[in-house]
Amino acid sequence: MTISYSLADFNKALSSLPNDCTTGFVPTMGALHQGHISLVKQALTKTSTVVVSVFVNPTQFNNPNDLAKYPRSVEEDCRLLEEAGASIVFVPSVEDIYPAPDTRTFDLGGLDQTGEGPKRPGHFNGVAQVVTRLFDIVKPKYAFFGEKDFQQLAIIRHFTKELGYPVQIVACPTLREADGLAMSSRNLLLTSQHRAAAPAIYKALSEAGERAAQILHNGSSKKNINITPQELIQQATASIEKGGLLKVEYIEIVNSVNLKLISNWDEADGIQMCAAVYAGEVRLIDNIKLK
Ligand code: PAJ
Repeated sequence: MTISYSLADFNKALSSLPNDCTTGFVPTMGALHQGHISLVKQALTKTSTVVVSVFVNPTQFNNPNDLAKYPRSVEEDCRLLEEAGASIVFVPSVEDIYPAPDTRTFDLGGLDQTGEGPKRPGHFNGVAQVVTRLFDIVKPKYAFFGEKDFQQLAIIRHFTKELGYPVQIVACPTLREADGLAMSSRNLLLTSQHRAAAPAIYKALSEAGERAAQILHNGSSKKNINITPQELIQQATASIEKGGLLKVEYIEIVNSVNLKLISNWDEADGIQMCAAVYAGEVRLIDNIKLK
């Protein structure tokens, strides 16, 4: 495995690969866990040349404190990546990615109007800046993104297509801890009390998923189990906040294609429930497919 700490080194590593080689790309911000590694493993099922970037992208942090606190562990990341079978790790500097301030504004197709969009102004534009820049540098055939960041995945699919990048976006399922908590670099920042409380998030989402399945399978004519999306959100919020340690920022039920809020179950073919929850200072997100 080659580790490139600069763009110049990375370009050298890339040019030493055979011309006809197909590259799979896994962009990350480091502090890697098994969720990230599952993306690398999925990439290795498509191609033997897997590039992983480790870059904490400043333009997607709307909160400077969040950027400063973001966990960093490049050496351990490289160890995990070598073990997983990655070919090249790209650890660029901010100047490599942004030789000049990036002033590009992207058309996100309105997919940033719900969920994380209004809560983190500029976040998805920053994601678009870094991902397009990395695509230009790495020129992958495939790029792998986690469903954990459901909205990010939808937005990346959108601008990749819109801008005509010849990159196939591959969605990868969310990896969870044994107690259901979605793996996240941010979990490292949780106090032990908040870590113990955090599995309530996925538990509530799973219960909502089961209720939705009952409604959708039995039809809304069964009055005893009929429940509106709004009521399902209220139940999930109450269940997450019950222990007193977690605070829901939002729970939304959206059309999984255009990410618009839905108010009844017949409104869309695919429906997703998405949540952002504060566990103390740490903001966690998760989502589940309802339909
Ligand atoms: P980061 O949070 O490091 O995540 C890198 C990739 O790993 C993303 O595609 C994310 O969805 C995926 N991932 C994170 N946790 C996961 C889990 N538990 N199961 C499966 N996949 C998981 O997302 C970013 O970085 C950045 O926004 C980035 C796309 C790299 C742009 O800076």
